[in-house]
Amino acid sequence: MKTSISVIGAGYVGLVIATCLAELGNEVTLIDIDELKVNSIRNGVSPIYEEGLEDLLRKVNMQVTTDYEKTLPSKIIMLCLGTPSDESGINLNYISEASTKLAGILKRRQDYSVINIKSTIAPGTTEGLIIPSLEKSGKKAGKDFGVCMSPEFLREGKAINDFMNPARIIVGEHDRTSGDVLCQLYEHFNAPIMRTSIKTAEMIKLASNAFLATKISFINEIGNMCKQLGIDAYDVAKGMGFDDRIGNKFLNAGVGFGGSCLPKDLKMLIAKAQEINYEPKILEAVLKLNDEQVVRMLDLLKKHVQLKGAIIGLLGLAFKSGTDDVRDSRAIGIVDALLKEGAIVKAYDPLAIKNFSQIFPQIEYVTIEQVLNSDAILILAECEEFNKLDYKGRIVIDGRRVAKAREAEIYEGICW
Ligand SMILES: NC(=O)c1ccc[n+]([C@@H]2O[C@H](COP(=O)([O-])OP(=O)(O)OC[C@H]3O[C@@H](n4cnc5c(N)ncnc54)[C@H](O)[C@@H]3O)[C@@H](O)[C@H]2O)c1
Repeated sequence: MKTSISVIGAGYVGLVIATCLAELGNEVTLIDIDELKVNSIRNGVSPIYEEGLEDLLRKVNMQVTTDYEKTLPSKIIMLCLGTPSDESGINLNYISEASTKLAGILKRRQDYSVINIKSTIAPGTTEGLIIPSLEKSGKKAGKDFGVCMSPEFLREGKAINDFMNPARIIVGEHDRTSGDVLCQLYEHFNAPIMRTSIKTAEMIKLASNAFLATKISFINEIGNMCKQLGIDAYDVAKGMGFDDRIGNKFLNAGVGFGGSCLPKDLKMLIAKAQEINYEPKILEAVLKLNDEQVVRMLDLLKKHVQLKGAIIGLLGLAFKSGTDDVRDSRAIGIVDALLKEGAIVKAYDPLAIKNFSQIFPQIEYVTIEQVLNSDAILILAECEEFNKLDYKGRIVIDGRRVAKAREAEIYEGICW
C-alpha cells in the first residue's frame, strides 16, 4: 500500500530507505539537521557513495528538508539516526534529540501515526528511552500514536538491493495496531515478515551482527593457527562451507571486521551484558581477536621492514570495498600505529580518500600505481582493482587475500 512516510536522518541508512520508498511510489519526506546534506540531496547529489543511489535519487520525487513540521502529514515516521559507540558504550544523543523534537510535533497532531525505529539500539532502549521521550507530548503510545522497532539489515555497497530485497523483515510492535500499519507497508516485499515484541526485535539485530562478527573472528582464529601450521585457511573454510549448517559465507580469514556496524553493535551488546551483570565471554573474545588482527598485520610487516623512515603503501581505506565509509575501518588503527613508529604512509582507495583524509590529513594520498613504489604494501580491502596490479619485486602483506599479490617478491598473507 502506498503511504506517506517521513524518514528522519539522511545518512547511509536513511537516505537509502527514503529514496527506495519514494521509488516504490510512497510520498516521502526526508529530514536531516545537516543543511549542507539536505541541500546536496535536494540537488540530486548524494553525500555518500552507494552504488546506484545517485541515479535513483535524481529519478524519484521526495521532499528533503530540515523542518520537522513537515512530518505532520506522515502516517509512518522512521527514525534512522546514528547510534555510534563512545567511551560510555553507546551514544544515544541523536536518537534522544530526534525523539524530543518529534514529541513537539506529536503534541499538535490530531491523527494517528506510527513511529518506527530503524536505528540499531540495545534491548530496552525503545521502551526505556524513546517512548518516554515521545510521551512527553502528552500523547500515549498504543493509543494516540503507534510505535514499532523494525531493524535494518542492509549492507553498505549493496544497500539498495538489500533494502528492496530483504532476507527478512522484523516488525517489533508495541501493540497490534502499530504492527498492522508497518506490515501493510511491507506486504509487497518478497520476504518473510516476523512480528515480535520491540525488545526481541532490538535483540535480533544485535544478535545477528554479533553472530556475523563471531564468524569472522572464528575463522581468523583458525586462520592464525593455519598460518603457523602451514595450512591454507581458505581451503579449510571451503571444506567447512559445504556443510549447510555452517555455510560458506563470512568465512574469509583476514585483517578482521570494521565499519559502522559490527564493532559498534558488538560493543553495544557487551555494554548491555555488563549492565545486567552478565559476563559476555564470547563477545569479548570476538572483539579482542579482531583488534589483535591489526597487530598481527603490523608484526608481519615488521618482519620484513624497519618502520622508521620507511614508506608504507596502503591499499584500501574504507572498511570494505564498494563504499566511502571509513568508520572504524581497519586502516585507522594501522595508520595510527605506522605513524607512531615513524613510517611514511602513502595511501590509496577508490572511494574513501576524502573521508579518510578528514581523520588523517597528514598522510599522503596517491594513485594506485604510486602505492606500488613503497618499501612495503599493506592490502586492507578487497577491491577488484587491487587484483590487477603488478606486484612483482614488491613486499606485500595481504590482509584480504588478493590472488595477484602472491606474485610479490615477499608475500605474507595474514592467515595463510
Ligand atoms: N550503515 C549501515 O550499513 C547500517 C545498516 C543497518 C543499520 N544501521 C543502523 O542505522 C542507524 C543509522 O546509521 P547510519 O550509518 O545511516 O548513520 P549516519 O551517521 O550515516 O546518519 C545519521 C544521520 O542523522 C542525522 N541527524 C543527526 N541528528 C539528527 C536529528 N536530531 N534530526 C535529524 N537528523 C539527524 C545526521 O546528520 C546523519 O545524516 C544506526 O543506528 C546504525 O547502526 C546502519
